[in-house]
Amino acid sequence: MIGNDLKKAVKLLKNNDLVAIPTETVYGLAANALSTEAIVKIFEVKNRPFFDPLIIHIDHFKKMEIYARNIPEKILFLAASLSPGPITFLLERKAIIPDLITAGSPLVAIRIPNHPLTLDLLSNLPFPLAAPSANPFGYISPTSAQHVAQQLGEEIPYILDGGTCSVGVESTIIGYENNQATIYRKGGISIEKIESLIGSVQVKEHSTSNPKSPGQLKSHYAPRVPFKLGDLPSLIDAHQGERLAVLSFDKAIKHASIQKQLVLSPKSSLSEAAQNLFAYMRLLDQEDVDVILAEKVPNMELGKAINDRLMRAAADYI
Ligand code: TXA
Ligand code: MG
Repeated sequence: MIGNDLKKAVKLLKNNDLVAIPTETVYGLAANALSTEAIVKIFEVKNRPFFDPLIIHIDHFKKMEIYARNIPEKILFLAASLSPGPITFLLERKAIIPDLITAGSPLVAIRIPNHPLTLDLLSNLPFPLAAPSANPFGYISPTSAQHVAQQLGEEIPYILDGGTCSVGVESTIIGYENNQATIYRKGGISIEKIESLIGSVQVKEHSTSNPKSPGQLKSHYAPRVPFKLGDLPSLIDAHQGERLAVLSFDKAIKHASIQKQLVLSPKSSLSEAAQNLFAYMRLLDQEDVDVILAEKVPNMELGKAINDRLMRAAADYI
C-alpha cells in the first residue's frame, strides 16, 4: 500500500516490519536497525546476499556518536557541513550495531537523509533505520513510490510516498583509510564539493573480487534489456537492423531504427540528468526493443556519479 501516513509507518517499524521510505537520493527499504529479526526481512525481500552490509539512517549527525567511535575530525566536519544530505560516513562501529548490519565488518555506514517526511519519521522512532535502496538486488534503484510498488509492492506492507527523489543517485560513501579521507562510492555529493571542504581525497575504484562496497560491484543498477554505453552514432551503426532505445545526455538523435528515445537533460544540467537517470532507464527497459544505447555525460561533479551508474548498468555488455 502507498500513502503518507506517518503514524502507520511508525507502528509497522516498531513492530519489526518493513516500510519503504523516501530520501533525496533513492527510495530505501527500511527496518529497525537494532533488531536482527527486522533486518533479516530486508535481505529476504531484496534477495540480497548477507555479505552486503546496510547503511543506517539517523536524523542528526550528532547522533553518529551513539553508533560509532573515533570519528575523524575531517569526517565530523563534513558531517556538520553536509548533513542532512546525500553522503554516507563509514565509521568504526560500536557494539550496539548488530553484526548483520555491517556483514561482520568493524565499520558501520551512517547517513542523515535530507527528506522532510523521513526526518520526521526518524524523530518519532527510538531506533535508527537500516535501509538499502528499495529494489531487487542488482536492478535499477527506485526514485519514486511507484517504482517501489512495481517491484516490491506485494512484499512490503507500506510505502511512504514522499514524491520523486530530488537528487536521483545514491549517496556518496566516504570513510578514512591510512589517515586519508577515501571515497568508496561516487554519489550525490560531488568529489569537487568534498575537496573544497577538506582538501584532497582518494577515490577507491571498485574491485569485483572483494568489494568494499558491493554497490561497487562491476555489474549493478542493471536493466534487463542489454544496455550499451559509448558513442551513439557508432553504437547505432553497430546495431543495424535491431530495434533500438536511446538514452542521451542533452541532444536527441535522428535514426529510423530508434523506437524510443529519452534525453536526460535538454538544458545540459547534470543535476537534472541525475534526477531523471533511473526513471528513464526503467522506462526504456519496459520498451519492446533489442538493446538500449546510452552515452556518458560530462565527467565532472554529479556527472561522475551518473557515469559510474551507466558503466555498471552496461558492465555485462562490454
Ligand atoms: O543513497 C543511499 O545511500 C541509499 C538511500 C536509501 O539511503 N541507500 C543505498 O543503500 O544506496 P544500498 O544498500 O543500496 O547501498 C549501500 C552501499 C552498498 O554498496 C554497501 O555495500 C555499502 O553501502 N556499505 C554499507 N555498509 C558498509 C560497510 N560497513 N562497509 C562497507 N560498505 C558498506
Ligand atoms: Mg542499492
